[in-house]
Amino acid sequence: MRLTLSVIKADIGSVGGHTKPSTRMMAAVEGAVAKAICDGLLIDAFVCHTGDDIAIIMTHTRGEGSSEVHQLAWKAFLAATSVAKTSGLYGAGQDLLVDAPSGNVRGAGPGVAELSFDHSLSGTRPAESFMVFAADKCGPGAYNLPLYLAFADPMYCAGLMLPPMIKGFRFHVIDMDNTAGDSVIELDAPADGYHIAALLRDNERFGIDRIVSRTHGEVAVAVSAQRLHAIAGKYTGKDDPVAIVRNQGIFPAPEEIVSPFAKAHFVGGDARGSHVMPLMPVPINTPVTGMYCLPIVSCTGFSIDKDGRFSESFTDFFDNPAWDEVRRRAQRKAIEMRSQGWSGAAMLPYSELEYGGFRDTVSSLLKRFQVRKERKPEAAE
Ligand code: 13P
Ligand code: 13P
Ligand code: MG
Ligand code: MG
Ligand code: MG
Ligand code: MG
Repeated sequence: MRLTLSVIKADIGSVGGHTKPSTRMMAAVEGAVAKAICDGLLIDAFVCHTGDDIAIIMTHTRGEGSSEVHQLAWKAFLAATSVAKTSGLYGAGQDLLVDAPSGNVRGAGPGVAELSFDHSLSGTRPAESFMVFAADKCGPGAYNLPLYLAFADPMYCAGLMLPPMIKGFRFHVIDMDNTAGDSVIELDAPADGYHIAALLRDNERFGIDRIVSRTHGEVAVAVSAQRLHAIAGKYTGKDDPVAIVRNQGIFPAPEEIVSPFAKAHFVGGDARGSHVMPLMPVPINTPVTGMYCLPIVSCTGFSIDKDGRFSESFTDFFDNPAWDEVRRRAQRKAIEMRSQGWSGAAMLPYSELEYGGFRDTVSSLLKRFQVRKERKPEAAE
């Protein structure tokens, strides 16, 4: 069976400020998704939130970019938006940027990550397991560094030295500033590792779109690397990416995939999408309530049975005391960075500030600058 994993995620409103979706909003999405399973559109699905972003994780056989699957997600988000509006919640419908997308919702606001594979539970994949990363309060390239380390650096993934992975992985890197369409370059790790790094260091412009096994041609990773401003024509918010990562066997093991997140690396995002702050790994369904407004990331794991259904259980990777240490490190890094306030590297450059108002403030001041008249030398006495 050709199976597709689709993760579609949107921020459509939250309680008490931008913290978390309401219980009724979650129920609205879950209801729409349960109906789609009953109707046979989806094989299985799981709904969770990270901060105030709701993710729908789905299996089906309709392929990537299926308008039926995308429309289902859109309608589920519309139902939750209507709950958010009725309840007077903050930012109701925030990520639904167009009135009614005709098919695929990619480019309409929600984050979309999808990949497909032949699902036979034999050959290179006697068992199929995967993880889903979902982030809130951060920029689209938040996974650039951790995914590079997991799929291209044996210091993080010693499994890369094993025969099924030793030829490395092909990175599809997308230029998110290109508004003409998806502009992608394919580069092979390890041979092109430095070229890949040269692009991925710019988290706001370049993002990993896909990672593919060079030995088996199987897709390992799909990321929702797209910028909302490239969609809306103006800056409408940070782009809080989602990623699907298949694991084990011909791919890195879960611990090799999550270990780079122990860095709590700095990303663009945080309060008003305008600061440079550490990415804190958190359990799913965590609200954003800590001091500042730290970028957060969750990670769920699933297995898939022969019919494409999720195991009866799921794994919440960052819901483990081992990650408390990393959360403390993230908080310490955050306090250090924020002690610098608005100065220099602590805040994003003007082009990346989520709130256009910061730019308006400076633009209005720029109009008041005057070139000083050349000072005449003082007349000699
Ligand atoms: P198990 O012993 O649970 O199979 O784990 C082996 C392993 O390789 C972990 O990466
Ligand atoms: P959201 O990404 O949840 O909309 O948060 C944006 C923000 O500005 C936080 O201060
Ligand atoms: Mg929000
Ligand atoms: Mg959000
Ligand atoms: Mg956001
Ligand atoms: Mg967002």
